[in-house]
Amino acid sequence: MAEILAIYPGSFDPITNGHLDLIDRGSQLFSQLTVAVLTNLEKDPLFSVSERVEMLREATHSIPNVSVDTFSGLLVEYARQKQAKVILRGIRAFTDYEYELQMTLMNRRLAPDLETVFLMPALAYTYVSSRLVREVFQLGGSVTGLVPPLVEERLHQKVFQGKA
Ligand code: PNS
Repeated sequence: MAEILAIYPGSFDPITNGHLDLIDRGSQLFSQLTVAVLTNLEKDPLFSVSERVEMLREATHSIPNVSVDTFSGLLVEYARQKQAKVILRGIRAFTDYEYELQMTLMNRRLAPDLETVFLMPALAYTYVSSRLVREVFQLGGSVTGLVPPLVEERLHQKVFQGKA
């Protein structure tokens, strides 16, 4: 089978069990999977890029064909540099569809030979998003089971102990 490098891009602020589920599935389909954290986020992130990369590396260290990287600028340019053939994205509920469709078609226009592949996370994670995790945790709710324990620990440090 051909060696296929796939890129799984996103903000990952922070990584959730839904992301991890997708990484696990992707790692079984592609020879190499690079999780790529966007560095020029327009939104105000809770975790810095290096914190997000650190958490991703810790959470994926046991999967040998997964690596973690950062990128800025156009995703298709980054993919071209890496000689990746596939962009991996997760699709949860119907509400994700329009945003994903727009991105996919724009990326296809920019790089026709780069394919976007969608995977669905396990049912238990279809409603989990980084935004909701941040919001629920900051308001005192439990996110146990929705993020890896190492992320829960980091959330505690960041939100309640004010650690940068
Ligand atoms: O986790 P997110 O925030 O939904 O990920 C969005 C991401 C990083 C995949 C998207 O914003 C992106 O690819 N940004 C890079 C800039 C770019 O290429 N924009 C055009 C996409 S059509």
